[in-house]
Amino acid sequence: MSLSVCFNDVVKDFGSVRVLHGVSFDLAPGRMVGLLGENGAGKSTLVKILSGYEQLSGGSLEVDGVVRHFASSREAEAAGIVLIHQEFNLADDLTVAQNIFLGRELRRGWLLDEAGMRRAARDVLQQVGLDIDPDTRARDLIVAEKQLVEIAKALSRHARLLVMDEPTATLTPSETQRLFELIARLRSQGVTIVYISHKLEEVERVTDEIVVMRDGRFVARGPTADHTRQQMANLMVGRELSDMFSPRITPPPAEPLLSVRHVSVPGWAKDVSFDLRPGEILGFAGLVGAGRTELFEGLLGLRPRSAGEMWLAGRTVSFHTPREAAHEGMTYLSEDRKGCGLHTRMSLQENLTLMDLDRHARPRLDPRSERRALEKAVAEFGIRTGSLDAPAGSLSGGNQQKLAMAKVLQPNPRVVVLDEPTRGVDVGAKRDIYFLIQRLAAEGRGVVVISSELIELIGLCHRVVVMRAGVVQATLDADHLTEEALIAHATGTH
Ligand SMILES: Nc1ncnc2c1ncn2[C@@H]1O[C@H](COP(=O)(O)OP(=O)(O)OP(=O)(O)O)[C@@H](O)[C@H]1O
Ligand SMILES: [Mg+2]
Repeated sequence: MSLSVCFNDVVKDFGSVRVLHGVSFDLAPGRMVGLLGENGAGKSTLVKILSGYEQLSGGSLEVDGVVRHFASSREAEAAGIVLIHQEFNLADDLTVAQNIFLGRELRRGWLLDEAGMRRAARDVLQQVGLDIDPDTRARDLIVAEKQLVEIAKALSRHARLLVMDEPTATLTPSETQRLFELIARLRSQGVTIVYISHKLEEVERVTDEIVVMRDGRFVARGPTADHTRQQMANLMVGRELSDMFSPRITPPPAEPLLSVRHVSVPGWAKDVSFDLRPGEILGFAGLVGAGRTELFEGLLGLRPRSAGEMWLAGRTVSFHTPREAAHEGMTYLSEDRKGCGLHTRMSLQENLTLMDLDRHARPRLDPRSERRALEKAVAEFGIRTGSLDAPAGSLSGGNQQKLAMAKVLQPNPRVVVLDEPTRGVDVGAKRDIYFLIQRLAAEGRGVVVISSELIELIGLCHRVVVMRAGVVQATLDADHLTEEALIAHATGTH
């Protein structure tokens, strides 16, 4: 049933840029292997080669002892190898059921067996614990649902080797728990699993063995149990990592930069009020679906707002678009990088300056000034890219996140709202982002951090607003921030 794989000196070039420099290691059948490495280390590229989404430029791939070359994902699937993508790969215009059966539709005679596919789709959706109508269009799903549909889609393909590339980045703890149960079941069926994640506690829980890559090379492997998380992190970055957070600075008392009163976003948030002071990092905790993202989408004009008022630096404001908000000094990093954060086909430069074109226009757009901004951002945020002219979509997941961060800071906002700022980001870069957030606050800006990572909220925030079912349950200050308290308020078990 299970399947073994051997990478022999695998090389991958994108144009003139080499991203895999001869990677060799093997995956024993039925093992759970954690693949670790910094952003841009080449993890996704390697597993895309394994699953037929990319072609290797040199070396070879052996499956069950036979050299194979998969020209498409369909060929790899036929061999039992299925990839769950890091960046979602659903067709937005198709329904959930159509996505699940894409490329291997069930038929009855000449006709598509719509009812059969819907039934089977319902069955796999149930296995991942997703209670949605299989006829829902993919575009209407929220991010966590998209992720679960991706997993359901992979399950329905009966993999013998399943690669999960950051499967839990958008899931809540309970959804993650369910995924782990699923993984345990697959394991008992002998499925080989490659698990890519920056969440080292998950790697610790799920895998038997870790393989570490750095800069497109294999660097180490060993039993998971022989490594602490700290050791894993050090192997990934190739040096000792010190504290993740710098000491908290208490902002001086001041009038709020942003005040929100009695705001409702129909279907998502009800009667929400809060203040954000200059120099303050204000967290928003809650389960997926608690309405945190949707609340801020409402404040930024991405969703209809039905009531309430908002003041920015003492002035009444009401935004219709994020661009208008950026003009007034408030920017937003969306949790859905691909959906509304970055334009993957556009260049890094176009992405970076999109919200801030005025500054580079005098009166016409000045490409040199845009270029300088890009060079500065690449250096400041440590964005790893083969070329400055690359499309944003060619960056690794974590590097896209850094670019998205740079983009929202371009207009020099007074208030910045960061939704899951470290999603898919490696430990080293995470630390950089935490320091950056703390620096933004120290400069007197107001920072909102919406996050599912409790450690992040506890380490960073001056206060945390906890939401459940669209309603603010509690606002905890730094002295009362514990994982237990956050979970209790978020789940209503307080
Ligand atoms: N289609 C592409 N064109 C050009 N360069 C690419 C392309 N895809 C990936 N790269 C480059 O290959 C390198 C490895 O990227 P990859 O996505 O494999 O990293 P990763 O280890 O998965 O990182 P992350 O943890 O951020 O997901 C990166 O420098 C990336 O910019
Ligand atoms: Mg990746």
